[in-house]
Amino acid sequence: MTQFKTLDSLDDIAGKRVLVRVDLNVPVKDGQVTDTTRIERVAPTINELSEKGAKVILLAHFGRPKGKAVASMSLEPIAQTVEEVLDHRVPFASDCIGEAAAGAVADMADGDVLLLENVRFHAGEESNDPAFAKQLAEIGDLYVDDAFSAAHRAHASTEGLAHLLPAYAGRTMQAELEALEKGLGNPARPVVAIVGGAKVSTKLDLLMNLVSKVDALVIGGGMANTFLAAKGTDVGKSLCEHDLAPTAKQIMIEAASNNCAIVLPVDGVVAKEFAANADNETLDIGSIPADGMILDVGPKSVSAINEWIGKASTLVWNGPLGAFEIEPFDAATVAAAKFAASCTGEGVLTSVAGGGDTVAALNHAGVAGDFSYVSTAGGAFLEWMEGKPLPGVEALK
Ligand code: 3PG
Ligand code: MG
Repeated sequence: MTQFKTLDSLDDIAGKRVLVRVDLNVPVKDGQVTDTTRIERVAPTINELSEKGAKVILLAHFGRPKGKAVASMSLEPIAQTVEEVLDHRVPFASDCIGEAAAGAVADMADGDVLLLENVRFHAGEESNDPAFAKQLAEIGDLYVDDAFSAAHRAHASTEGLAHLLPAYAGRTMQAELEALEKGLGNPARPVVAIVGGAKVSTKLDLLMNLVSKVDALVIGGGMANTFLAAKGTDVGKSLCEHDLAPTAKQIMIEAASNNCAIVLPVDGVVAKEFAANADNETLDIGSIPADGMILDVGPKSVSAINEWIGKASTLVWNGPLGAFEIEPFDAATVAAAKFAASCTGEGVLTSVAGGGDTVAALNHAGVAGDFSYVSTAGGAFLEWMEGKPLPGVEALK
């Protein structure tokens, strides 16, 4: 596991300039950060380095400005929220390289924290331009990567820098990798995976990788319909990628040859329109009317899913079981999430969840804090679960 160095091997860092890559790509509405989770996650690393007397220089991206300075994607307004979460002063430098950055770093005292402007304002960030990485490296002595959620990007601040300065994993990077290792790397068996969400097409690599690694794969959400249809079930006008039937069949064949059980819904909550509190009925799969839409898996399916969760030692979860954002089609996701949380609380289950909607769904169920680990990563979590090497992680090894 310890293929990379962590903050544990950093002792004498008083006065050292430490470039810390964090993920401050947080949701913002009307100029206000609406979810500070990612900032809270990187706070331990920042505080630890600052308490040891390092000069902590934060590198981050925000949005996708495509190599140009775009005012609406400045990190300046976010500095204030970082300050509040850290309860520590966080001055801001208007550029991440050049005189503005160098001047601000020169002004730092030991233990200070500084936030630099969006690294993606420079084209060299995303192209991982060695010259740009070198300019970043000039203002630091050490590099700490605490941005697991951006580790699927081979960018200058997530990959290039690790080759130019002594590189370490921050506390959140370390926690993410340890949790993922427990979830899929070397998990306690049986391992059950729940994969939901709208489309099979976005999760093909994930499904293919999971069937070779887990003992049961629960498929929910809109993507379950594609599997049901592939098996010849009429899913009415439910969301369904009919053209992916051969792929779904292929995944089921792979699963069978790997002794991985595929758990598909046996009943569904069916409505005629996609709307909150739409008239609905619970029907067995096999009797979905032509004008019906399956918006959630039904109670019999939830029992079957919970039975698998109950037998599992490890659960990995990505994607909701139904249209959890509109009531009452959140019921299955909430029920399974609560059950997984209670098994985790009893100490009989290691539960690891991640991916954009998943965190929102677990928060909605009120159990995000009761899972063993909830990743704040979207794409990086998926790519890791797909078995792909993450450039930002590889570079730390
Ligand atoms: C994220 O929000 O998923 C990460 O910060 C990566 O952002 P990106 O998808 O724009 O690279
Ligand atoms: Mg993303």
